[in-house]
Amino acid sequence: MTLDTRISRRAALMGAGAVAAWLTSPARAVLQAMGRVTVPAFVDPLIARMTLEEKAGQLSLMASAWGGGAAAALNPPQGDSNFPRQVEEARQGQLTGVFNGNGARAARILQTAAVKDSRLKIPLLFAADIIHGHRTIFPVPLAEVASFEPDLARRTAEAAAFEAAGAGIDWTFSPMVDVARDQRWGRGVEGGGEDPFLGSLFAAARVQGFQGADLKSTEHMLACIKHFAAYGAAESGLDYNVVDMSDIRLRETYLSPYKAGFDAGALTAMASFNEINGVPSTGNRWLQTDLLRGEWGFQGFVVSDYTGDEEMIAAGYAKDGRDAARLAFLAGVDVSMQSGLYRKYLPDLVRNGAVPQAQLDQSVRRVLALKAMLGLFDDPFRRIDVKRESGRSMLPKTRALARESGRKSIVLLKNEGDLLPLPRSGKKIAIIGPFASGQHDLVGPWVVYGDDAKAIDLAAGVKAAVTDKSSVVVAQGSGVEEPLAGGIEQAIAAARSADVVILAIGESANMSGEAQSRTEIVVPGPQQRLAEAVAATGKPMVVVLKHGRALALEGAVANAQAILATWFLGTETGNAVADILFGAYSPSGRLPASFPLRSGQEPFYYAHKSSGRPNPTSTPEPYKEHFRGILNRALYPFGHGLTYGKIEYGGFTQSSPTMPLNGTIEVAATIANRGSRAAEEVVQLYIHDQVASITQPVRLLKAFRKIALAPGQSQLVRFTLRPSDLSFLGRDRRPTIEPGSFDVWIAPSAEAEGVRGVFELTA
Ligand code: NOJ
Repeated sequence: MTLDTRISRRAALMGAGAVAAWLTSPARAVLQAMGRVTVPAFVDPLIARMTLEEKAGQLSLMASAWGGGAAAALNPPQGDSNFPRQVEEARQGQLTGVFNGNGARAARILQTAAVKDSRLKIPLLFAADIIHGHRTIFPVPLAEVASFEPDLARRTAEAAAFEAAGAGIDWTFSPMVDVARDQRWGRGVEGGGEDPFLGSLFAAARVQGFQGADLKSTEHMLACIKHFAAYGAAESGLDYNVVDMSDIRLRETYLSPYKAGFDAGALTAMASFNEINGVPSTGNRWLQTDLLRGEWGFQGFVVSDYTGDEEMIAAGYAKDGRDAARLAFLAGVDVSMQSGLYRKYLPDLVRNGAVPQAQLDQSVRRVLALKAMLGLFDDPFRRIDVKRESGRSMLPKTRALARESGRKSIVLLKNEGDLLPLPRSGKKIAIIGPFASGQHDLVGPWVVYGDDAKAIDLAAGVKAAVTDKSSVVVAQGSGVEEPLAGGIEQAIAAARSADVVILAIGESANMSGEAQSRTEIVVPGPQQRLAEAVAATGKPMVVVLKHGRALALEGAVANAQAILATWFLGTETGNAVADILFGAYSPSGRLPASFPLRSGQEPFYYAHKSSGRPNPTSTPEPYKEHFRGILNRALYPFGHGLTYGKIEYGGFTQSSPTMPLNGTIEVAATIANRGSRAAEEVVQLYIHDQVASITQPVRLLKAFRKIALAPGQSQLVRFTLRPSDLSFLGRDRRPTIEPGSFDVWIAPSAEAEGVRGVFELTA
């Protein structure tokens, strides 16, 4: 944190030209990109004028009390929601801001109370869970990672910021970057998948998209890296559950996407609900201060999750609310969300010497500095404009981006006999299943402001793509988790009347997201029965899955000729799926999370370690590592996804059989499209350190490239491996590189052979 006199309010008034030059200068953009916080000169004199109560108010964030709508439904209800009382709190300086409010109108009322009627006229901060879009809803974050195109996520984050900032929102509680390796956990849907390398690229891209180059921009907003830390490692995939893990695993696997987000310039962090090794993250000084600020140099502020400080009482770490406030604050959590504990207890804790006044001032300084960086002291209403709000909502270019992002998020898992793409005419199509049609489950989980009613369902997308709408019949067949009376008979009749069936089945939006852990990650029973009945008609069947996690597919679903993983794609769902079904776009998505053979394999992830008794063959061998009757393999591994081309990997080369410790090695392969359709391929580079003083995973993704190949075209794809790619955390917890043999694969998935070589790292 540096004291910056150049952009003080006074300077802005006195020398607008110079200030404008500084604001737009590349130097400032670079400073901000590195996550620097600059404290304008007016901040410390302002802090000096604040009472302890006003300071605690600046550290207290509350859910918007403007009632109604989806915003209220996303967290546990907390007493009565009283907007006039909240306006009064703003007048009294008891609030730093509110979250998940209802647009520019409500924001204007609250902001007016803060900057006109409060004693110190400090502007409020407006936050919201803009997870995958504001009004235009993009694919859920996990789906977008399937694109293997971080820049796509940057662009959708930027478009979400454009709409949200237009509606008065300064700060998003996003991106969520928790590595998730247990698909039972419901919140994997909000994150970057199972791989820390891929997840880190998406974390950084999303931060850049939300924040842009200048936080004062009315088209951008502040990002928040969450949930710090290791929330995705909850034991048994049970949301909120404890995490107990080695510090090597914590650092190597779980911490890297957070670090990538901060390195990309994110200036806020949200503490996670879980404990790590016995200490709740919200009360963990090592995590929130020593590591985050000390080791990583984070300069922004940390907010608790919703009542996370108070929850340390139930967790058996704090004895009461006062103790919880003290522990969270001393750990380094600057701002308390929703519990109200900081404004209730911090003034007294400071008066009694339990909390140092200097630390209180420092947290207030961070908050005020960020409000200044967001431009709120210059113009508290800069993002609050009712006209702008509607003028930015769901513009055609934003919807077009949602469609692009949607089709790039779809993964073609299977396509026997080239059933896909379907012809646009000449075939009767039956769309069957609970997700065949209707304005439900389209925008997906974690949406505050999006609306299913404004989204395109599957039937509408298909009908728009075929030449004759009357060739399409629709049958619901089943409810999501309940059978539908007469549904199966109706579905069988529809299938019999058609040449091909599109079976739209899977999870509803509320089956993933917060507190939605599942013990069995399967297609729910009634829909499985529907699939069996429809498959028995013998009609060719394309399964279009709706899901917020990787699923264990079984029976008729797994045996269908074609399977598309389509997640929750948002506003343009039907159009995006139709683009793939009818070949307007060749599928290019690749799985960001492994589909296991059975639920019981979870946690299941490709970068596991080898036991001493691996089972290398395709049948379970006695006394080798497997489950009864099931190999510990994926049904569809991380990185898997087909195209409408015919992709072949060949011609592996490496620049040398050896790589010196301080040198590099280049590996290459020729990727060819032998098919008759254009395709995009995600060429993946994996390594394995054969012998090390800390055992290493069987494979690790180190690089990938997405390439476009016309029919008949081939391309030489080169990768350079550097020493840092071969390093791991050693016994002394330091980056370690050990000479020895490394396997290297250039492959289309984490389990595919692709082409491979071995090289020796020499001392
Ligand atoms: C709780 C969730 O864990 C967090 O991700 C979210 O940002 C807050 N609620 C606010 O809605």
